Amino acid sequence: MAAYSTEKIAPKYHEAIVAWQKKNFPELAFLEANWSKHFGSQTPFQLTAKIGKLQTDTIQYGRFIGKPKFESAGVMTGNMFYSARDIIRAQASTELGSIEQHRLTLESAPTDEMKLSVLRIMAEELRHAYQMFWVLDHDASWKKPGHPDIAAETMDELLAMHLGTHVLDAFNIPFHNFLDNVVFATFIDLVGKYQLEMQKVFSYAPMARSMGPMLSEEGFHIGSGRSFLRELAVGAVKQSGDFSLSDIQKTINVWIPRGAEMFGNERGGETAVAFGFKDRNNGTAQSEYLSECRDIVEMTNVAIVQTMLADITAPDARVVVRTIQDTGDAQRGIRPEDLLLVPHGSFFRKRGLDEVAFQPYDVNGNLLTEDGKPLAAASYLDYLRKNLPEYYVNGSEFAKYEAALVASSVEGKSAHSW
Ligand SMILES: [Fe+2]
Ligand SMILES: [Fe+2]
Repeated sequence: MAAYSTEKIAPKYHEAIVAWQKKNFPELAFLEANWSKHFGSQTPFQLTAKIGKLQTDTIQYGRFIGKPKFESAGVMTGNMFYSARDIIRAQASTELGSIEQHRLTLESAPTDEMKLSVLRIMAEELRHAYQMFWVLDHDASWKKPGHPDIAAETMDELLAMHLGTHVLDAFNIPFHNFLDNVVFATFIDLVGKYQLEMQKVFSYAPMARSMGPMLSEEGFHIGSGRSFLRELAVGAVKQSGDFSLSDIQKTINVWIPRGAEMFGNERGGETAVAFGFKDRNNGTAQSEYLSECRDIVEMTNVAIVQTMLADITAPDARVVVRTIQDTGDAQRGIRPEDLLLVPHGSFFRKRGLDEVAFQPYDVNGNLLTEDGKPLAAASYLDYLRKNLPEYYVNGSEFAKYEAALVASSVEGKSAHSW
């Protein structure tokens, strides 16, 4: 039996989401026509909200601990009401933004399996947006007496967002090639997994009930990302694929810093815990995330070593990977640059702690210096240009970073931290 029940939202917004899909994701029809061929055993895609079960009926964290979870938004007061709305709005924006991003490079998928998997990811992100609309739409108390209709206002705003105006930076970066689809599903959907997991405790019950079903779908997104990343890395080693290992590394260097920033300032997040919205603060979640990124990249490196050294077992390949990375020396003909690496959490940051945002850290987390002083903006930009994809450093996202870096170095402090 399904661990959830399903619901539709009111026709006005249901139809608005269908209209959004027809415009921004017309390939859904192709996925539906090919579903059983690729995903035979799984329930076909349906645009519904899935209502799961609560972990507990009472609030698990923060200042209302032990009280019953809130069934209606209207009982949340002041800042708490608007913070809940902001989380729902940001979540829905990520779902819609990622569909727009995946679509840009969908047709360049190296295999049918990769294309169909990305289509399924896009469909499920659409359902996640629908789920957030359900949270807003089914609860009439998002409109408080004498106040604007926050639900309608938020849903209308979301439907009008597009690449460039989404809430979080990571969802405004256009994809350039299929490596973006794969690296994004691996490392940005992983942030999604952390957010959903933290929000299983949400003190506003309709949000808490939404998390389980969304999480089980995220499992497919992350799993697809990891297996395609491994496939592309092995293809790079065999020189049979579309991408080199250096292409893969540079793409990872674009996305993981954005993923790290999605957690918010490393010293923040206490308010969300106090409101019972999340079970961890930003810094804790971010360090768990980066450590999981390193585990994923290690698995990819094991596959690389197993491709380079025929007949080596996975455990032995792991020893080789760790030895190369710990010592910085080649092992059995494999050099450090033959492996992938997770950039340090301080590399290429534009948000977060003042001592990190816009500071010239290298991929290993060392502060780059020149004559005993942190590297000047122009020299750090040169360093970044060598470590990020060429299309990216020639694009508008990097131009924005460059302008903000120069401004922050003129002011002598970070201009854009939060
Ligand atoms: Fe999602
Ligand atoms: Fe996802």
